[in-house]
Amino acid sequence: MIASLGKEIGNRISEGFNKDKRAEIIAITSGKGGVGKSSISVNFALMLQQMHKKVLMIDADIHLGNVDLLMGVRAPHTLADLFDENMQLRDIIVKGPGGIDVLAASSASGKLLEMEDVFLRKLSSAFKTIENDYDYIIVDTGAGIANSVLSFLLGADKIVLVVTSDPASIADGYAVIKIIKRNDLEIPVLLVTNVMSSHEAGENLYKRMNLMVRRFLKSDIEYGGSVLKDDLISNSVKTQKPFVVHNPNAAATNIVRMLTRKILTVSPKSRLDSKNVFDRFIINRKIKFEWD
Ligand SMILES: Nc1ncnc2c1ncn2[C@@H]1O[C@H](COP(=O)(O)OP(=O)(O)OP(=O)(O)O)[C@@H](O)[C@H]1O
Ligand SMILES: [Mg+2]
Repeated sequence: MIASLGKEIGNRISEGFNKDKRAEIIAITSGKGGVGKSSISVNFALMLQQMHKKVLMIDADIHLGNVDLLMGVRAPHTLADLFDENMQLRDIIVKGPGGIDVLAASSASGKLLEMEDVFLRKLSSAFKTIENDYDYIIVDTGAGIANSVLSFLLGADKIVLVVTSDPASIADGYAVIKIIKRNDLEIPVLLVTNVMSSHEAGENLYKRMNLMVRRFLKSDIEYGGSVLKDDLISNSVKTQKPFVVHNPNAAATNIVRMLTRKILTVSPKSRLDSKNVFDRFIINRKIKFEWD
């Protein structure tokens, strides 16, 4: 009797703790498009899921959102459907491999910038009913420095920036770091180098970029790790079979496992408020971003 009462109290306390715990928001971004952001986001999110974390993947790439395709799922609705009174946020979220939740925001997130505050507040309060169900919310933001991207980035607790050795990707990646750091020094930025010939080449690229960040921005970026050029990754995009799920022993899967562990070890920006990803979007969309 006393033991079961103790267990009951224990459960209630832990439920209470879980309710207070807000999901950590990790945004994946890049300066230049086509550098492997979505491939990395999707497999990173699925790896977290395999590590028994509860994950919501938000596809916020306005122009080329394709997270549903990469996961091999079909998302018939998007955030825009919430205008319809009968639609709930839960109706829009679809299940991906391993039971991961996917929110296809892409076609609506560009419009979010112009949407009335009333709709965004409705979105944010709808989100409050589900966000505590998750440990991590992974946002694939799309490339570049459009306000819609930056509004999501500055709302994140951690940012993962993907670059390749292509000079345009490095220059554009640096531009993104510059804008983030000019606006918020406290959000940790992890650099992931992709399509690399070796881990050494990837780490050297990180060191070069961090030198620039130190010198010109008086800050630091963290090294997330390097993903090698691998036909398995491009094939898994074509076949819509994420390699983390379908090729659990592949080298690419091991790399994503290491990346994931590294990303989790970096402390997120500490925030005292309990604002969710859409509350922060509302605030950030009003910011005039500093460019120079
Ligand atoms: N490590 C890799 N090795 C080989 N091919 C890769 C690798 N990473 C990504 N690719 C390929 O590069 C292409 C672009 O990848 P992906 O769509 O993930 O990039 P993205 O940054 O999300 O692009 P966008 O900016 O268009 O959203 C895909 O065809 C993918 O298969
Ligand atoms: Mg993409």
